Amino acid sequence: MVKHIHAIVADDFAALNRKVVAELHSRVPLIESIGHYIIEAGGKRMRPTMALLCARALGYQGERHIDLATVIEFLHTATLLHDDVVDMSEMRRGRPTANVKWDNPSSVLVGDFIYSRAFELLVNIGSMPIMDVMASTTNRISEGEVLQLFHKNNPDTTEASYLEVIRNKTAILFAAACSTAAILAGASTTIQQQLHSFGLEVGMAFQLIDDVLDYEGTGAELGKNVGDDLAEGKPTMPLIYILQHGTPAERQLVTGAIQHGGLDQLEAIIRIVKSSGALTYTRQLAQQRVDSALANLASLPDSAYRHGLELVADAAVNRSN
Ligand code: IPE
Ligand code: IPE
Ligand code: MG
Ligand code: MG
Repeated sequence: MVKHIHAIVADDFAALNRKVVAELHSRVPLIESIGHYIIEAGGKRMRPTMALLCARALGYQGERHIDLATVIEFLHTATLLHDDVVDMSEMRRGRPTANVKWDNPSSVLVGDFIYSRAFELLVNIGSMPIMDVMASTTNRISEGEVLQLFHKNNPDTTEASYLEVIRNKTAILFAAACSTAAILAGASTTIQQQLHSFGLEVGMAFQLIDDVLDYEGTGAELGKNVGDDLAEGKPTMPLIYILQHGTPAERQLVTGAIQHGGLDQLEAIIRIVKSSGALTYTRQLAQQRVDSALANLASLPDSAYRHGLELVADAAVNRSN
């Protein structure tokens, strides 16, 4: 899906992929097995690619952006290992999840290893302002995941609470990928803030679409199972829309599905989210986020890298995996 974007920073992207593999080294074989298993399954590498594009768009000429992009992908990978345990998900990147292939304790502990390796790399980068952003970013991601847990099985979750969850669990990392690249490149605080906003809005759009695809996608394309959110009783935007705008019968069905989780009603709910306009509405919200994201690129000099960031924003919405 994002191959044409990776190509814009082809050498950096290749260096990133070498580095994420090289930095998984450990004396403990299980760490390397699980680490390689998830890292080498691929993934879109969207967040580190954004960091690479931002650094280059700002004229960065050093080498440390590869370390920074590696840190971003490691933080993302650690959250995926943990998230799949919490969500009891069985497929990720087209393969059985680590919690299925190994078990929950191994996934959690290797997630911790990858997370702490990210911080070792950050120390090598040696920038206290970047460290500062990353420390609070990881803190916010954890808050987002815990907040989501708190709203699980609660059909009274509001759109505002949902948006707060996705801002924390997902969008903040996209924002950090962009703003830390700006810090590394020595950009002004104005540019740092604009790229933070760009990443944040793209990240919001990205999670809104992830939540659409959890109903509308196909397992084969997504590389993960559809219906995971429903199975866990997660009140995501498509369901919140039905609770606000559906018929009494639709609202009753969705209320029960959120309260009890499970996949018994998956087909009925997929029909409703499609026919009610819930998915269309969620897509519109995502597109609005992307439109406002793009306004933040206006002060960057015109370049292939800036164009790459525009393509990333578009890909956050227009994607099937
Ligand atoms: C999955 O992220 C987790 C979410 C925030 C939705 P991605 O869809 O970027 O996962 P990979 O890295 O491409 O597998
Ligand atoms: C993203 O939410 C979670 C993280 C930020 C790790 P999801 O739970 O929707 O992500 P997927 O669908 O499992 O990739
Ligand atoms: Mg999940
Ligand atoms: Mg999801």
